[in-house]
Parts: sequence; structure tokens; C-alpha cells
Amino acid sequence: MNEERQKFVAQHVATLPKSGIRDFFALVSQRPDAISLAIGEPDFVTPWHIREAAWFALELGKTSYTDNSGLIQLRREISKYVGDFFKLDYQPNDEILVTVGVSEALDLVLRATLNPGDKVIYHHPCYVSYNPSIQMAHAEAVGVPTSSENQFTLDPEDLRKAWQPRCKALILNFPTNPTGGTASAEVLKEIAAFAIEKDLLVISDEIYSELTFDGRHTSIATLPGMKERTVLLHGFSKAFAMTGFRIGYACGPQEIIDAMMKVHQYSMLCAPILSQEAAIEALKNGGPAVQKMKSQYRQRRDYIVKRFNGMGIPCHTPGGSFYVFPDIRPTGKTSKEFATELLNTQSVAVVPGTAFGEAGEGFVRAAFSTSYENLIEACNRIEAMINL
Ligand SMILES: Cc1ncc(COP(=O)(O)O)c(C=O)c1O
Repeated sequence: MNEERQKFVAQHVATLPKSGIRDFFALVSQRPDAISLAIGEPDFVTPWHIREAAWFALELGKTSYTDNSGLIQLRREISKYVGDFFKLDYQPNDEILVTVGVSEALDLVLRATLNPGDKVIYHHPCYVSYNPSIQMAHAEAVGVPTSSENQFTLDPEDLRKAWQPRCKALILNFPTNPTGGTASAEVLKEIAAFAIEKDLLVISDEIYSELTFDGRHTSIATLPGMKERTVLLHGFSKAFAMTGFRIGYACGPQEIIDAMMKVHQYSMLCAPILSQEAAIEALKNGGPAVQKMKSQYRQRRDYIVKRFNGMGIPCHTPGGSFYVFPDIRPTGKTSKEFATELLNTQSVAVVPGTAFGEAGEGFVRAAFSTSYENLIEACNRIEAMINL
């Protein structure tokens, strides 16, 4: 590290820890033969008709910028889709913003709403970006642990205990990456009442909502008094298998979408036009493909949960997402020891739970977004290591 050059790095960035996943992925990349249950993205290629829409748009010479907010045709489709799927009504003109994935939407909502010194509550284990994104918005992250005993839902009592003065926002993510945790209508009601009591903005990342296996997904924004204080983040990466298209959106109160739009237009300008064209097709005709992928995820989920439990590794059944978060504490190893040994001795990659926050110690994340055959072989190898 050269101190002369290091001095140019902003203090709040210099103090950010590197992603816990990074070191581990460096190890995984040295093992190209490994079966990977480590990657958080679908193993399916984007359905052909969606790819074709992008291809066709390119052929028609659609290579320009779009409206900063996104193509109006796309915003209209989003409005219809969100209306049908979430039962929420958003106006295409001023309550929907098309973004470069949920990643950008998250960054925008944080930067557009937080003042230095504000605090944001989030539940963990969680998606690796929440804590650093809060810090990059010059705010303070307040973590609330969730536990396997509670099926990794957010206990409203724990939320209450974690609250501090200057908490301005609450990030929710159901179904959750990395645990697959969901929140029942009862829990959501209690969280909503708390958000209203404490006057919190709710940032609800519902990127895995279509991949809810048991019952119907409910957005907190549908509860009384919540739509006006919730920004719903959603995208195409997971359910439509479109990670590489980098396309997502935010729906929320006009004032907040407007503020996010300011940050977006000066930083990103607009989401790529070809991805927007593909997204229109996804929303119009992608339903059957999503259902097909979902039914495969469900089969794989049932298989992997049964296998882990069968080998004496307690594994709760995730209500959604394509992750399981088994409890490896009976092996006596830490998350990192377990994942490293599994990689080195059995060539199977899983991610140490600690990559998702300290509440992940004692667990690993295994993504079942891989073929059934790979899953069977991976489970055989995990069992072999445990039986050693
Ligand atoms: C909970 C969660 N939110 C957001 C993202 C980022 O999504 P996108 O590809 O839309 O930027 C991910 C990706 O893994 C995720 O798991």
C-alpha cells in the first residue's frame, strides 16, 4: 500500500471493509473443477424470446439514450405487472424509475434520502451490499440479527430493541438472500406498525418475490399506511434470469422517486436501451418461463433441504429465493473452516455465512441455482466430508 497515493482515497471508503465474499471467491477461482453452490445467480440462460427482443431492438438500430426515467412503454408494463403481482398501483409517469439493476435502485434511494449522521436499520445475515451502501451514503448502518430458530424472519421485538434516535430508514429483504427467510403477514403488520410509530422510510428489496414457494408473497407496501412510506425495489435478475442485462426499477412516492431520479440522471443517465426492450418482453410474455424455472428451483430446494437434514446438518426450508442456509455448527467448524475444507477436500464451493454479516457465523450459503445432477453430486461430497 503506497501511503502517498492512499491519501487520495476518501476516508469513508478507505474504512469500508472489503466484501467477505471476495477472498473466498479468489480461492474458488483457483478450482475451476469445483461444483459451485456459491454463485447467487440463476443457472438458466435468459429465456429465448427475451433475448430475441434485445436482439431485434439492436437490429432496428435502437442504440440511443432513453428518457432518464426509462422508456415509457417499460414503465407502463412495470405499472401493470406490479399491479397484478403485488396488488399495488403506481403511476408510470412519476412513481416508477427504471434503474441499472436493484443495485443502482438501492444506491439511489439511500443517496437521495439520507443526510450525514442518519441511521438505517437492516436485518442480517443479508445481501452483502446493504451495510457498505449505507456507509457510502454517509449514514450509519444498524444491524438486527435474525436467527434460524425464527426461520430467519425479522422479529419485530428485535427491531424495536435495535432502534436508535436518528434511525430514518429500514431495509427489508423478503425472501432474503442468503437465508431464504420470508415474513408472514402477521410479522409484516407488526413491522409496519413500528415503521409508522417511528416514522421510518421502508426500503423493501423484493427481488426474489416471484421465487416464493409457499403461499403468496406479500409486499409490506400493501399494508395500510405503508405505500406512502415505502420504496419498493424490484428487478429482472433473479426470476427472469437476466443478471447480465443489469435492469431493475424502483416504485414509490413521487417525491422520493423524483429525488432518486435527480441522482440517477446525473450519475447513470439511463438504463441501457437494449435491456429495457428485453424487460418489456419479459413483463409481457415471461410469466410461463418464470413458472418453469420456479418449479425446478422448488424441486431442487426440497432435495437439498432433505439431504442436509439427513446428514445431521440442520437446514430450515427456505420459503423463497434459491438459497439454503444450513447450520453447520454440529461439525464443530466455523463457517470459514467448513467452506474452505469443503472446497479443498471435495471441490464443492459454498459461501461462509459470515460473508453476510456476523449473524451468519455457524452457517454457510448454498445456492441451488445449479443442475439437479450437480446438486446430487455436491450433496454426496458434502456428506463424504462430514462422515470423515
Ligand atoms: C437481495 C438482493 N438485492 C439486490 C441484488 C442485486 O440485484 P441486481 O442484479 O438487480 O442489481 C441481489 C443480487 O444478488 C440480491 O441478492
